[in-house]
Amino acid sequence: MRQAWEAAWACEVAEAALTYDAPEAAAIVRRLAAPPAARRWTSIELDGGVVFASLSGVDPSVGHVDLLAVHPERQGRGTGRRLVRAAEDWLRAQGAREARFAGNPPCYAWPGIDVRYTPAACLAESLGYEHYRTAWNMTADLAADLDVAADLERLAGRGVSVHAGVTEQVVAFVREQWNDAWAWEAANAAGLHYAMRDGQVLAFAAWGARPAWFGPMGTRPDATGLGLGRVLLRRCLAEQRVAGQATAQIGWVGPKRFYSRAVGARVERVFWLYRRELG
Ligand SMILES: CC(C)(COP(=O)(O)OP(=O)(O)OC[C@H]1O[C@@H](n2cnc3c(N)ncnc32)[C@H](O)[C@@H]1OP(=O)(O)O)[C@@H](O)C(=O)NCCC(=O)NCCS
Repeated sequence: MRQAWEAAWACEVAEAALTYDAPEAAAIVRRLAAPPAARRWTSIELDGGVVFASLSGVDPSVGHVDLLAVHPERQGRGTGRRLVRAAEDWLRAQGAREARFAGNPPCYAWPGIDVRYTPAACLAESLGYEHYRTAWNMTADLAADLDVAADLERLAGRGVSVHAGVTEQVVAFVREQWNDAWAWEAANAAGLHYAMRDGQVLAFAAWGARPAWFGPMGTRPDATGLGLGRVLLRRCLAEQRVAGQATAQIGWVGPKRFYSRAVGARVERVFWLYRRELG
């Protein structure tokens, strides 16, 4: 009972505070509250704000602040600062020696702090965090021509078929070719498209593991050059259009030239990644 109430309340705060992510803010909260089973994470609420924090699955000495939001009516009273301190205390107690404002793949809200959330960047800097990396998303306009009929015909002539849906085979393919993180994103995708030849998966593209965003995608090295990525990307974006989106963000890019050429995507959201040693 209490957890359901907390989640609803956290969603409300996130929707109100996360002005650049408001449509999917509640879905982001629910996503962060259902990470991979092995992840150690927490959410802390106080004085009209909420923070989510987690330990890196790759390096448990690294902790992440995954989401920080204070209701607009309660901002400017020191709550944000207290929430970050509380997240740091929790991370320290879990053995972390460093805290980051940076996405903790595969279950993350953003790669870092969107530069337009300027108060959050100021807060991180005032607490001694160092800006150590920059990441970006690209935006694809979904009014664009996403037709792939001719490509599907061409691929069929080369023995390649294209399918939709999350299957065990495609998740295993993603795990073998890349890693567990991408496999989790594939398994938790809202939509997934993949190409096959002779019973073998050659390439995949997914969207929605990070609510409303496109990614990840990948083609087996020996299947590059067939134009599979372009087709699978377009199929996903067409699905996102059907889901009601006017634009799609391609998360944490990645090959700019490919997305720019394939769907005219442009670099748009920029994220600063911050870190600080936990003394
Ligand atoms: C960022 C946020 C959590 C700060 O919460 P808050 O409770 O208002 O913050 P505090 O009162 O504790 O302020 C602490 C510090 O944050 C920074 N800050 C807060 N509001 C700011 C503003 N309007 N402009 C610039 N810096 C600001 C300052 O460094 C401030 O310390 P200082 O005033 O001594 O310099 C809040 O603005 C928010 O919810 N923003 C939207 C969500 C967001 O950006 N999340 C980050 C994505 S992870």
